[in-house]
Amino acid sequence: MNPTLDRRDFLTAGTAAAGTLAFSAGLYAQGMSSINVGIIGCGGRGSGALRDVLDADPEVKIAAICDLNEGRAKSTLRALKNKQADRVMATEETTFHGLEGYKKLLALPQVNYVILATPPGFRPDHLEAAVEAGKHIFTEKPVAVDVAGVRKCLDVARRARDKGLKIAAGTQRRHEAGYIEIMKRIHNGEIGDILAGRVYWNGTTPWNHWDKRRPEMSDVEYQLFNWYHFLWLSGDHIVEQHIHNIDVANWALRANPIEVTGMGGRSNRIAGDPNLHGNIFDHFAVELTYPGGVVIQSYCRQIDGCENNVSEAFVGTKGKTRTTSGSYIINGKDLDIPSRPYVQEHIDLVRAIKENKPLNELEQVTYSTFAAILGRMAAYSGQRLKWDEVLYGIKKKVKGEEVVDDRWFEDTMPRPLTLDMKLPADPVPVVGRWRPKRPKA
Ligand SMILES: NC(=O)c1ccc[n+]([C@@H]2O[C@H](COP(=O)([O-])OP(=O)(O)OC[C@H]3O[C@@H](n4cnc5c(N)ncnc54)[C@H](O)[C@@H]3O)[C@@H](O)[C@H]2O)c1
Repeated sequence: MNPTLDRRDFLTAGTAAAGTLAFSAGLYAQGMSSINVGIIGCGGRGSGALRDVLDADPEVKIAAICDLNEGRAKSTLRALKNKQADRVMATEETTFHGLEGYKKLLALPQVNYVILATPPGFRPDHLEAAVEAGKHIFTEKPVAVDVAGVRKCLDVARRARDKGLKIAAGTQRRHEAGYIEIMKRIHNGEIGDILAGRVYWNGTTPWNHWDKRRPEMSDVEYQLFNWYHFLWLSGDHIVEQHIHNIDVANWALRANPIEVTGMGGRSNRIAGDPNLHGNIFDHFAVELTYPGGVVIQSYCRQIDGCENNVSEAFVGTKGKTRTTSGSYIINGKDLDIPSRPYVQEHIDLVRAIKENKPLNELEQVTYSTFAAILGRMAAYSGQRLKWDEVLYGIKKKVKGEEVVDDRWFEDTMPRPLTLDMKLPADPVPVVGRWRPKRPKA
C-alpha cells in the first residue's frame, strides 16, 4: 500500500478505481475506449467547458474543434496542446471553421461527445445535426431563440431519447448540490404548497463591439461579432441570461407556465441604428402564471448603476426559500453546501454515458427556454400569451372543421445564411405593435 495513503484514503481510491472499471465496461460496450469531445463554439463559455469536461473525468480526450472563426479554432487547439497535450487527440485535420464547420466535426466517427457553445440562434440546427450523427451532447443554454427553434428542439429531444443518446444542458443550477438539496426539500413539502415566488437576473450591461465595425465586414459578420445584441442570435437577454432563474421556477413548481404577461423596454441601451446597436431590450418585468394559479414574478435588467440581484425566492404555506449560486436558504437556515456545478454537469453526463443510464435534459431546457421566449413575446407584444396557443397554435372550429391559427409562430433565422449576405437589422420592437417575424413566403 502507498505509505502516504491511510486506510480511509485507500478504500476511497479503491472504490474510485472500481467505479472507473465499471464505467469503462459501459463505454467499451459502445465500441469506444474514451470520451472523445468535439467542441462547436470556442468562445468564453466553450473554452470554460473544455476545462470543465477535462476536469470531470480522466478518460476524457479532446478530439475535434470547431469555431466560426478560423483563428479562434486554431488558437484553441494550440492552447490545449500547450497545457494538456496528453489529453488532446485533435489535430489541424480535425479543427474546422466557418458556418458549415460543425457538419465536418459531426461527421468524425471518433467524436462521441459534443459540446455546443455557439450563440443560441444556431443551437436548434446544431442539436438536430448532432442527434442525427448519433452523438451524446452537452448543450449550452438557451437552446433556441424563437418558436420555430423550440418546436425543433422538442422534436429533437424525442429523437435523441429514441436513439438512447444522453444530453445535459448548461442550466448548471440543476447540477449544483445546494440547489438540488433545496429542491428536494421543497418537493418533500418543507415549505408546504408554493403560493408565489419571484426570480431575478438584474445585472449590468454586457459587452458590445459597436465601435469596431470594420468597413469590409458584411452585415452578417458584424451581427455575429455582436451576437448578443441581435434577436435572431441571442433571443434577447431574458432568454439568453434570465433563462437560468426561470428554469429554477419551473423546477421548483415541477411545471411550465400556463400563461404569461409582461412589459419591458430599452431605456438605457443606445437606441441608435439597429444595424449598429442591435435590437434587444434592456429590461423586462414578466408575470408567469403556473397551474393552480401560482404566480411567479420575473425581473431581468441589464443596466449599470443599479442594484444587482440574481436570485430566486418562493413562498409556501409553511415557509419560504431564497437561493442564489452559493447560498441556499430555507426557512431562515442557510445550507452550506459547496459544489462545482460547471464541472458537475460534465461528471453527470460522462457517468450517464459510461453507465448507460438515462439522461436527457433537452426537453426540460427547451421548456425553460420557451418560458423565457414567451415572456419576451408577451413584453414585446403587450399581450397576455398562453403557452399552448403560442407553442402549438390557436385551435379553432371554422365551418365545423378544426383549423390552427398559428399567428404567434416566430422564425427569426435568415435562410439560407451566408457570411457575405446583406441582412438589414430589424428595428427595436415597439411595444404593442410588434408581431413575430416569419420567413417571407
Ligand atoms: N451556463 C452559463 O453559465 C453560461 C455562461 C456564459 C455563456 N453561456 C452560453 O454559452 C453560449 C456561448 O456564449 P459565450 O459567452 O461563450 O459567447 P462567445 O461570443 O464568447 O463565444 C461564441 C463562440 O461561438 C463562435 N461561433 C459563432 N457562430 C458559430 C457557428 N455557427 N459555428 C461555430 N462557431 C460559432 C464564435 O466565433 C465564438 O467563438 C451562449 O449560448 C451563452 O448563453 C452560458
